[in-house]
Amino acid sequence: MKGPTAEGFPKNFVWGAATASYQIEGAATEDGRGPSVWDMLCRRPGAIWGGHTGAVGCDHYHRMPEDVELMRTLGLKGYRFSISWPRILPAGTGRVNPKGLAFYDRLVDALLAAGIQPWATLFHWDYPQDLYDRGGWLSPDSPKWFADYARIVVRALSDRVTHWMTQNEPQCYIGLGLRDGIHAPGEKLGWREVLLAAHHSMMGHGLAVRAIRATARRRPLIGAAPVGSHVIPASGSARDVATARRATFAVAGRTYWNTTWWTDPLIFGRYPADGLKAFGADVPKHSRRDLETMRAPLDFFGANIYQSEAVRAGRGGAAEPAARPVGHALTAYKWPVTPDALYWGPKFFWERYKLPIVVTENGMSGADWVGLDGRVHDHARIDYLARYLIALRRAIRDGVPVLGYFQWSLMDNFEWAEGFKERFGLIHVDYTTKKRTPKDSYEWYRDLIATNGALLPADPARP
Ligand code: FCB
Repeated sequence: MKGPTAEGFPKNFVWGAATASYQIEGAATEDGRGPSVWDMLCRRPGAIWGGHTGAVGCDHYHRMPEDVELMRTLGLKGYRFSISWPRILPAGTGRVNPKGLAFYDRLVDALLAAGIQPWATLFHWDYPQDLYDRGGWLSPDSPKWFADYARIVVRALSDRVTHWMTQNEPQCYIGLGLRDGIHAPGEKLGWREVLLAAHHSMMGHGLAVRAIRATARRRPLIGAAPVGSHVIPASGSARDVATARRATFAVAGRTYWNTTWWTDPLIFGRYPADGLKAFGADVPKHSRRDLETMRAPLDFFGANIYQSEAVRAGRGGAAEPAARPVGHALTAYKWPVTPDALYWGPKFFWERYKLPIVVTENGMSGADWVGLDGRVHDHARIDYLARYLIALRRAIRDGVPVLGYFQWSLMDNFEWAEGFKERFGLIHVDYTTKKRTPKDSYEWYRDLIATNGALLPADPARP
């Protein structure tokens, strides 16, 4: 990778935006798509805010050319999208649905014609219902199901797609989905089963990485996109920094909100010791071979980063939460605005995993609507993105190799259990008419991309 230019971003920096299949595509029963666990959860009364469903979504499935045209005028260098497993394999395994593959074929062609690099995520939560009925991630066959699916997609698209992500945020589809029942499939299982499902999903990741490398027609670049709990230091003091680093990589008791349980096996081939201790007898019995299956060399570390907790070094180096001042900025989702997460997150991940970083998601939900003048003045999003990108620029200047940044999200979409309540897009979507209206942030991001980030203000004064 080339070093940063005067603007602070490398010359070939991938300015991107991201979406996921179930959140935008709609067309849930069209062209042979099979049902997914999200279709099922959306039918459960009370599961989704407002009783919304992704069945029609943003109707991207039918409006794809219009959406790619909006990406082109935005000047995107890369577009991160996910592939709907039940569109490709309606029953999860077995019969391939040519119409499903044809959709992604058209999408990839349209992106390339628009000069946009496709970044494909194989699994962003829309798990085939039939596989769930056969045990889902609890089944010992599930790693192989995932790898077989990966092989089919890669065989079809890898003459044009070179950037792959295996799975998005296992913390959510396993933790929120199987432990807390908030996400699909809406189960509340005990830790023993939850950890077994996690174990299988990580083996699935490892097998899929091998399947991609063995099948790809052009040299692939592969990563995963986990989330985790990001912790930043309350000050720049060496003690606070060391404390935040430790906290970022700790498994603090029996919680799935951590990074290392999900990521250390993929990269180091072992579970973290503190996690083994916390989960004790609930850790699935496993062999060295399982861990070797999980571990597969990756080309980049995909990081979804939105917010972080700040800590300071307490007595004996223990992490003490640093309270946010009253009135601290919050997004519409009530997530705190913590730009330094995009400095420390990439830096800590780079130090530990020694893989180039790609920010695979970052953005905010705003209270956006189309104004009387027909425009969407989302000033807060512009400010949010500028602050976070300034922090990312600092990380790059300090030597962290960051290959790209994918804003979440290209367009307003179905925000899982929150339905259409939360608007994350650079493009406003009227869910009744499906009309797209680029927001002010779209224009701002377009100009930023055109200058490779030179329009970003100087670093704000730091405490
Ligand atoms: C992430 C998800 C993404 C979107 C954003 C807001 O956790 O990966 O699909 O919902 O949050």
